[in-house]
Amino acid sequence: MIFATLKEVLDRARAGKYAVGAFNINDMEIAKAIGGAAKEERSPVILAVSPSAIKYAGIEYIYEIARVTADNSGVPTVLHLDHGTSFDDCIQCIRYGWSSVMFDGSKLPFEENVKQTADIVRIAHAAGVSVEAELGKLAGVEGHVSVEEKDAIFTNPGEAKLFVDRTGVDALAVAIGTSHGAYKFKGEANLDFPRLENIEKLVNMPIVLHGASGVPKYVLDKAAKYGAKLPGAAGVPNDAIKTAISLGVAKINIDTDIRLAMTAAIRQVLAEKPEEFDPRKIFGPAEDAMKAVAKGKMQLFGSSGRA
Ligand code: G3H
Ligand code: 13P
Ligand code: ZN
Repeated sequence: MIFATLKEVLDRARAGKYAVGAFNINDMEIAKAIGGAAKEERSPVILAVSPSAIKYAGIEYIYEIARVTADNSGVPTVLHLDHGTSFDDCIQCIRYGWSSVMFDGSKLPFEENVKQTADIVRIAHAAGVSVEAELGKLAGVEGHVSVEEKDAIFTNPGEAKLFVDRTGVDALAVAIGTSHGAYKFKGEANLDFPRLENIEKLVNMPIVLHGASGVPKYVLDKAAKYGAKLPGAAGVPNDAIKTAISLGVAKINIDTDIRLAMTAAIRQVLAEKPEEFDPRKIFGPAEDAMKAVAKGKMQLFGSSGRA
């Protein structure tokens, strides 16, 4: 197989106490930036493709972009479906050559999530494809949240144990207070690390942290300087990422930080050189900016030098 499986990459990460970044790709420039970063950092990498990325790029394009990216970088590269929400999403990618799929049944009742995940695991594993699943609701929490409120939203450790035993998944995405996008917290970041620790002890497998972008100030400042309006944007601080890795997180999902880096760089070129209309002169600097962010993540996650 051209692509490494999620299981082999994450089992190594877990044993080595580092995490591997899963970066969403939607086009050639993003993929080149991520692959280029992985090559320079000698880091394993996960190329995450969402159903909306497939719809945007077309499955043929995005598959070939990922294939060439893996070929050129020469590092273990996983081609992963991010947030597949249906049986068909997962089967389409398995048939097309993905090495890993996420089935996101987190909005389903527990028993239905178990049933649908287990069905996909049986088929995926027969095809040599890994499976990630999710339990709990990804939601940012603001300020102090009661134990009862956390229990209603976040992953329940006992359920997580039952879930992994009954489904046979290779990695579990958990909800401990992160959320997707650029507005994760009002005030202090608030992640439930004791819960993460309990889950890890019980499930004994690689844990996945979605919604893990840092929304760095220097990128926000650059975006704002050139016209972006993102008041109140806030992400997961680097020290929280390090704590999460020390407690068993082996896969860290990043999309927002790459989007911000890309669009801030595009804004800068368009603002500073209003006469420019060669797309290569606009997307080129954006690719460099994304690559720099991805390299920083690989260093933070400890995956640099592990390929
Ligand atoms: O978690 C979702 C990822 O950021 C992908 O987002 O569905 O807009 O491609 P998307
Ligand atoms: P961010 O929005 O924090 O980058 O999270 C991305 C993600 O979880 C993709 O699955
Ligand atoms: Zn996600």
